[in-house]
Amino acid sequence: MTVRLPVIQGTLREGNETAVVADYTLERFRAHEEITSTLVNPGELGLGDLEMRLPKKDMLGETERSFVETVEAADGFAIVTPEYNHGYPGALKNVIDHIWEPWAHKAFGLVTVGGSVGGVRCEEQLRLVVNGGLNSQTVPRAVNVPHPADMFTDEGPADPDTWESRFDQLAEQLTVYARAMREVRDELTE
Ligand SMILES: Cc1cc2nc3c(=O)[nH]c(=O)nc-3n(C[C@H](O)[C@H](O)[C@H](O)COP(=O)(O)O)c2cc1C
Repeated sequence: MTVRLPVIQGTLREGNETAVVADYTLERFRAHEEITSTLVNPGELGLGDLEMRLPKKDMLGETERSFVETVEAADGFAIVTPEYNHGYPGALKNVIDHIWEPWAHKAFGLVTVGGSVGGVRCEEQLRLVVNGGLNSQTVPRAVNVPHPADMFTDEGPADPDTWESRFDQLAEQLTVYARAMREVRDELTE
């Protein structure tokens, strides 16, 4: 059974190093035949700072509607985000806060990017937001990427064996959870 797992990039900082990791996540997900995936880039959504949650779909422009439909149709997500000041970026929270129900009862895999500890502090914070705020479920595995410029280039990881295995393990676990959360949604909306 195919699962839909969009990859959400967590920053729109100019020249950010996370984009390469998000691209690699998408590439690894697409290597799994049971996963379909697309990249959601907050810089391309044109959401602006939150003034109100997005209204009904028939009142939305093309880009916003497509974003909502992508989240609605998803079984889960990978969030690929840098750590900023021991938290996650405001741009990511802004995207999350624009909608609510479509995030619920889905599986989330976290990929964090940072300095020496690879963004583990923002991983912990995101678990609180996803599991508590969004009524959803982070999977136990995460991928933490320290010093991304040393680990990844536009061509991919400097050490493919290490990173391929970490991302593939995340993809496999996320797939299992995403299928399970589909059943959870079915039961809860019966
Ligand atoms: C505003 C800002 C704050 C940051 N704070 C942290 C931090 O608290 N911990 C950390 O490990 N790295 C921190 N970094 C480093 C980033 O995690 C690092 O630059 C990494 O490459 C990912 O960020 P990027 O996608 O914006 O390039 C920070 C970077 C920026 C731009």
